[in-house]
Amino acid sequence: MAATPSRFSDLPRFLCNKLRFVKQMSACPQDVVRLHLGSPTFLVNNADDIAYVLQHTNDLYDKSPRISGATARDLFGDSLIAADAASHTARRKLLQPLFGTAQVARYADDIVTLTNAAMRRWRDRGVIDMREEFMQLPLRIIITATLGIQSDNDMNVLMRAVTARRRYIERILGSRIPYARYFSGPLRHDFAAAVSMLRSKVEQRLRNAEPQAAAKSFLARLMASRDGTTELSDAQICDEIITVLAAGHETLGPALAWAHWLLATHPETGRRVRREAIDIGGDGALTADHMRHLQYTRAVFDESMRLYPPTWLFLRFARRDHTLPSGATIPTGAKLYLSQVGIHHNPLYVDTPDTFNPERFHTPKRENRCPGSYFPFGGGPRACIGQHFAKLEAVLILATVTRAVRFEICDNTTPRAEGGITLRPAGPVRARVVDW
Ligand code: HEM
Repeated sequence: MAATPSRFSDLPRFLCNKLRFVKQMSACPQDVVRLHLGSPTFLVNNADDIAYVLQHTNDLYDKSPRISGATARDLFGDSLIAADAASHTARRKLLQPLFGTAQVARYADDIVTLTNAAMRRWRDRGVIDMREEFMQLPLRIIITATLGIQSDNDMNVLMRAVTARRRYIERILGSRIPYARYFSGPLRHDFAAAVSMLRSKVEQRLRNAEPQAAAKSFLARLMASRDGTTELSDAQICDEIITVLAAGHETLGPALAWAHWLLATHPETGRRVRREAIDIGGDGALTADHMRHLQYTRAVFDESMRLYPPTWLFLRFARRDHTLPSGATIPTGAKLYLSQVGIHHNPLYVDTPDTFNPERFHTPKRENRCPGSYFPFGGGPRACIGQHFAKLEAVLILATVTRAVRFEICDNTTPRAEGGITLRPAGPVRARVVDW
């Protein structure tokens, strides 16, 4: 007779390698797998259940207290991402108008200009680390879009501060030690200095009339949207801007690194992306209007995020006893893990799950997808508010870069994926930059 697992029997495997453990548990045939991690915890493997949990976040589920609520304020300030269920809807309503498809289209020229500048640097260097470079590029882009930065000096100072803040948050959220923020030494000091510098930069811009060039920035538009009744305070605007600076690059970075690595290792797909960019844009700068025609490039990005979803695991807490669509009963206070990396590779929902095949997202196939079986941007009321921006940016970068250059990967092995806050290559991914 098999021994009954103890309350904590899964904890060593979970702590030792969370990504490997979640992949193993995602391969279990049950719709909802009980994890023995202490308090009642489940991994949801059924796409209908996942869609249900996403849709009912805020009414039936809370986000993790590490990411939202009072304890998260220290890391994220008073911002949308950290808002608890009670305050989230109103805050989201205030910010949503900034992030529509038409609104983000105005950043297309910045995206393309900064991508071309990055390519000039890469060509000069000859060999680059894709993991690092594709983190830096979206960071420059989001700083420009958010604050309308014009000088190299400002850009460098802000890049250093956003990076120091990110490193600290990664360390704290990835730590196995409770209350890790009280034991984080110099990183904590760098974090505090970075946040105070970012605040002062935003406040400076809030106080002074913005130069014309910056008028389209998120900050300028947030200020212009104040209507006197539901306006955000200066401190809340600072926190939102700092959140967007972080959220706007830390997921896109790994997404772009994986997508370009996949193109480099699937040369026929790379050539097809290039042909599409030439057919649609000739040799001129690609624009937001080209987006809807860059269908194959978009399918490459979607398929890349299926294989390597930057957000690969997140948590919800049940507010009351209930039953999921699959029939599983969930008690009050239970933790539910939802894993993109698990469901995106589940053979029940996707054929040949480990094969890179952008065709499965190429119209009209993309419409036949079961909701909940693919959710790189989450879903429901807390779905990624920046997803139109992310898609615009990723497709324009992929098309602009692939039209001009190809990458030859220096090391022939597949990069190991590391499951931290995001799913990223565990080490540098060195590649030669070669003109076609
Ligand atoms: C490939 C790129 C991106 C991915 C994969 C991604 C993924 C996600 C996911 C999965 C969530 C929901 C988390 C949860 O429900 O717990 C989320 C939320 C969020 N994302 Fe993104 N994101 C990306 C890019 C962006 C960009 C470019 C921005 C800003 C310009 C952004 C801003 C936000 C914000 C503010 C939230 C919180 C939304 C809320 O709680 O209402 N993200 N993102």
